[in-house]
Amino acid sequence: MINIGIMGLGTVGTGVVELLEKNQHVISQRLGEAINVKKILVRDLSKKRTPCAEGKLTLRAEDILEDEEINIVVELMGGEEPAKSYIKKALQNKKHVVTANKEVISKHGKELFELAEKSGVSLLFEASVGGGIPIIRPMKQCLAANRILKISGILNGTTNYILTQMEEKGRNFEEALREAQRLGYAESDPSDDIKGFDAARKLAILSSIAFNTRITPDKVYVEGIERIEPEDIKYAGELGYSIKLVASARKVGEREIEVIVAPVMLKQSHPLSAVRDVYNAILVEGDAVGKVMFFGQGAGKMPTASAVVADIMDAARQGMRRRIYCTCYDELKVIDVGSSTSRFYIRLKAKDRPGVLSKISGAFGENDISLNMVIQKDVKGNVAEIVMVTHQVPFRNLQKALDEIKDLQDVENVANVIRVEGATSDGIHGNHR
Ligand code: NAP
Ligand code: HSE
Repeated sequence: MINIGIMGLGTVGTGVVELLEKNQHVISQRLGEAINVKKILVRDLSKKRTPCAEGKLTLRAEDILEDEEINIVVELMGGEEPAKSYIKKALQNKKHVVTANKEVISKHGKELFELAEKSGVSLLFEASVGGGIPIIRPMKQCLAANRILKISGILNGTTNYILTQMEEKGRNFEEALREAQRLGYAESDPSDDIKGFDAARKLAILSSIAFNTRITPDKVYVEGIERIEPEDIKYAGELGYSIKLVASARKVGEREIEVIVAPVMLKQSHPLSAVRDVYNAILVEGDAVGKVMFFGQGAGKMPTASAVVADIMDAARQGMRRRIYCTCYDELKVIDVGSSTSRFYIRLKAKDRPGVLSKISGAFGENDISLNMVIQKDVKGNVAEIVMVTHQVPFRNLQKALDEIKDLQDVENVANVIRVEGATSDGIHGNHR
């Protein structure tokens, strides 16, 4: 029998203990041994919990970390501390660790993987990216023979749920977010989802594996979905696009990479555009395999538990022989986002009077930006809403032009700027200049 200790009994922790009980027969058949949840760390003993946790709760982390009979510690509390310290202690005490905590792995992976290696134990984190989607193990094992050229995907279930609900059901942002929280998709601080930080942590983990380097979340350029308004979704639809929060990383030359999380208008025929609600998808491009896509539920109790329990089984069966250590041996430079190129959608409000449009297009022209399309939308009073789409331009040229446009007397505001997928790009990465 393999004894495990679980730290945290929220959405995912509850899913894990319920799944271990529900499928105990197949799990022990496949493993050749039973898994026993010996102790579960919580903060509050009086809270109503799943019946599967009865008699196992403790308020003391030491009851798990110092118990010599516990071989595997499963960290499902979330947040940076005390999760990181508990993971460290468990590794120091030569216990395998399974976690779904992308914040800790993306920020402190180097230190923790080195410690795991020194202690001769595993640190497994399949559930930290893409919820129930198998992606970490396939990247490290099944695609190990490839040089990875690019990864792009929808890595956050909460924001994808919100955008889908806004697009398809006309729901407002706050209402859709509340529902995502009720369904257990959102982080305890949902601004981590909305502002793109959660997707940036996941992209940092994926690109570290894909490009054998160490990318931390602070190196990822991030824009969230907080500025997306119903008007953007409506105009995107009229142009044949859907708006998705896309996380993307690609190699630029031999020594540089580009890592960006941002909303992107994707053609409705693009494979990521069909990814709805809490579903996530990750497109990986390898030099031998070509393009492969991984798809599934990116958040939620049971899909995430599926990934965590598979890691527990892997830790239980591996003994010491089959461990895959950290593979981040290279040092690559992350390039400045200003030099990344894309097409851009711009929505702005300006006075509806002669000469205004020519001043706006003048600012674009002076910054070497050519426009693909200009449409005047609603006019309210003497203010018109104008939608423009550029050709491929470097982001820094666009920023410079917009700074000039914002200063024009007749321009009320630049309401939004969103990357647009082009014929040859995913909207984030165009040709690099
Ligand atoms: P959650 O519902 O907020 O649950 C966290 C649990 O940890 C709560 O039960 C909380 O106790 C407990 N906890 C927090 N700090 C603690 C401490 N210091 N001592 C003891 N217990 C503590 O979070 P979750 O959604 O299950 O997420 C857990 C982890 O999985 C996070 O790292 C998250 O990013 C990751 N993840 C979540 C999903 C998902 O769909 N939810 C998917 C993939 C990965 P109380 O019950 O007392 O508040
Ligand atoms: N909050 C995360 C999401 C949970 O919505 O994708 C899964 O990592």
